[in-house]
Amino acid sequence: MPLEIVRNDITKMKVDAIVNAANESLLGGGGVDGAIHRAAGSGLLAECRTLGGCKTGKAKITGGYNLPAKYVIHTVGPIYNDGKHGEKVLLESCYRESLALAKEYQCETVAFPLISSGVYGYPKDQALKVAIDVISDFLLENEMMVYIVIFDKAAYKISEKLFSDIAEYIDDNYVDEHTNYSRERIRMNALPPMAPRTRRKKTDDDFLEMCDCRAMLAEDDLDAKLKQIDESFSQMLLRKIDEKGMTDAECYKKANIDRKLFSKIRSDVHYKPSKPTALAFAISLELSLAETEDMLRKAGFALSHSNKFDIIIEYFISKGNYNIFEINEALFAFDQSLLGA
Ligand code: APR
Repeated sequence: MPLEIVRNDITKMKVDAIVNAANESLLGGGGVDGAIHRAAGSGLLAECRTLGGCKTGKAKITGGYNLPAKYVIHTVGPIYNDGKHGEKVLLESCYRESLALAKEYQCETVAFPLISSGVYGYPKDQALKVAIDVISDFLLENEMMVYIVIFDKAAYKISEKLFSDIAEYIDDNYVDEHTNYSRERIRMNALPPMAPRTRRKKTDDDFLEMCDCRAMLAEDDLDAKLKQIDESFSQMLLRKIDEKGMTDAECYKKANIDRKLFSKIRSDVHYKPSKPTALAFAISLELSLAETEDMLRKAGFALSHSNKFDIIIEYFISKGNYNIFEINEALFAFDQSLLGA
């Protein structure tokens, strides 16, 4: 999955480069800046002294010294005022400039903190959205594994409204295995006994109606429908990519799936993906709930109302919101695993 949101201490990340939320002096400070300098040791400060500072929105690179990461990319985020003083443009530039440097230094894996969302006061959910938007745009054109590192849960929240909407949807739909069964049994017992099915005599009209229906269904439509019933997951995926007029790359990038996994699925007609991977493709193809269930079935899965992960996916599909990064933000906020490989 090329973009992952993880909860960790960025100084512990074993990646090619970690990004530091620095200030213009580049001479250290508090927050993640302080943590990185403490973990890297004095060599980092000595190199920073040679850089002559860094402008807000720009980025500069140094060695990683005692850190597990090979490089540190120092970028200076904007101090948040009221959102009307170009803060967003500057914050976007931090991510863009840092990614460009990482690419220039052939980094394959990069970890970002939520820049400006601490001391500099950028609202967390907006800071996260900027990070996700810029990074996912970059990943449409570039191969890199990017982590957004959330240091503590409190430092990470999706908008209150979205959170409460989803929580309400889960409440309305979530049933655990036991109550689901017993509630269903009580409901069935409460129903009046089913009247015995009276098989209506087939009339000529029925027969004619059926004929009309057959006539309406051109032969090849019927064949196509029958063929789809027993197509594999991989066949359905490739058919849907064609039907949607997407390229393979557009589909797997939007699904936040890496190229290697996609080519495995493409080359093996019987490939069985994991449930999150199957769902990630359903989201990428913007399938309806029924089509999503069909695609899941072909991978051997079903959406379940005793699974919060499934209910959150169902929430977004029912709202027509197929932005996989927003969905992953929500899954993360509800302590669920993320979509993608
Ligand atoms: N790992 C990952 N993320 C961390 C860590 C860590 N070890 N420590 C803090 N964070 C997170 C914070 O929770 C916050 O979400 O990094 C994000 C950025 O917060 P700050 O470090 O305060 O950075 P910023 O808001 O950009 O302010 C920069 O603070 O530390 C000074 O010298 C720095 O003056 C500069 C200013």
